[in-house]
Amino acid sequence: MSKIIGVIGAGTMGSGIAQVAAQCGHSVYLMDANVEQLERAKNGVSTSLEKLVEKGKFTVEQKSSIESNIHYVGQLEGLSTCQLIIEAIVEKMEVKHSVFSSLEKIVSDDCILASNTSSLSIASIGSSLTKADRVIGIHFFNPATIMPLVEIIPAVQTSEATINEAVSLIQSWGKTVVLCKDTPGFIVNRVARPFYGEALRIYEEGLADFATIDWAMTHFGGFKMGPFTLMDYIGNDVNYAVTESVFQAFYYDPRFKPSFTQKRHSEAGFYGRKTGRGFYQYAEGTETIEATKDEIIGKIIFERVLVMLINEAADAVFMQVASVKDVDLAMTKGVNYPKGLLAWADELGLDWVLDKLNELFDEYGEDRYRPNALLKRMVKKGDKFYS
Ligand code: NAI
Repeated sequence: MSKIIGVIGAGTMGSGIAQVAAQCGHSVYLMDANVEQLERAKNGVSTSLEKLVEKGKFTVEQKSSIESNIHYVGQLEGLSTCQLIIEAIVEKMEVKHSVFSSLEKIVSDDCILASNTSSLSIASIGSSLTKADRVIGIHFFNPATIMPLVEIIPAVQTSEATINEAVSLIQSWGKTVVLCKDTPGFIVNRVARPFYGEALRIYEEGLADFATIDWAMTHFGGFKMGPFTLMDYIGNDVNYAVTESVFQAFYYDPRFKPSFTQKRHSEAGFYGRKTGRGFYQYAEGTETIEATKDEIIGKIIFERVLVMLINEAADAVFMQVASVKDVDLAMTKGVNYPKGLLAWADELGLDWVLDKLNELFDEYGEDRYRPNALLKRMVKKGDKFYS
């Protein structure tokens, strides 16, 4: 059923979310405080739809109908008739608080107020509302028009009715919805940390260089990109900031400890592709670094990163952040992992995974490598994640 949807912030995420909703036939009000940004968003949506017309996904008539579904507004007041509003503005709690509390004075009592935040607490965002049972996290992945995953995050204040409505609406947009607890990094940004962190640690120990680690993960694991190529793609500034914020939010749990190597690259302005240099150099004419394709070392690297990822996925289930199925869906649909980590663990054998983690824990004696209690329990009982 067609609804009136509001989106606040017409940047990278907001304009993509508005386009997705408009493609599904909803009437969308896209608001931004910056008028020029609204113009850019309008052009961006048009270019993106143009490409879909070229691919035969929409006709020219459908394109103009989708475009006419989006109304560009410069004031929050323009959102007064909306039934669900997704905020996608700057990632600063005080700004989100101020927007949410102003919004509540404008919209009807039953309008759902959602945030697309990647790292902030939904409960805290909801604290700026008088009627907080309508707050919820609806976290899209970039680019929102393409990535199928959406994490839905109820806060402690959120009502069942709000959850049900948000889930069924976002599913009706053709998205894969996973439910997760209001905890730092939600599912994807929590479970994926070792992909970067353990790769960096392996490099810092001098076991292998960037290219070799990337080769190990793509060759043995079937990951589309190795960790260093991916960090350069995301941007070391952005990726480092996420790691640091997750580390702080987990009260400095050593599992999430950021790396000096990435920090220094970020401080030096070696952000990655966007600055022409990150872990690799991207200027034309620069030599590509060849991996040392040693099968034995490669396998050690791959297995070490993989068991750390599985340990983190198991912890997300153990701490009831999300279900087994949703953790696996999140990693395959949100970050394109070749397999769900828990299905992968079953395939390898949980006892094998636990042995590898125990080896690391014994060797290093660091809390970072402690095997998750759920894994230990499951091995004792001979259980699997999927029966
Ligand atoms: P962006 O910087 O591209 O866009 C933010 C927009 O919000 C800008 O156009 C800005 O003018 C507008 N804005 C800022 N303050 C405003 C206010 N008070 N009222 C109205 N408009 C305001 O940011 P981006 O990347 O789209 O991120 C937005 C949100 O989405 C953040 O919370 C971020 O954590 C989250 N997010 C970002 C992802 C990404 O890959 N960029 C992925 C998933 C979530």
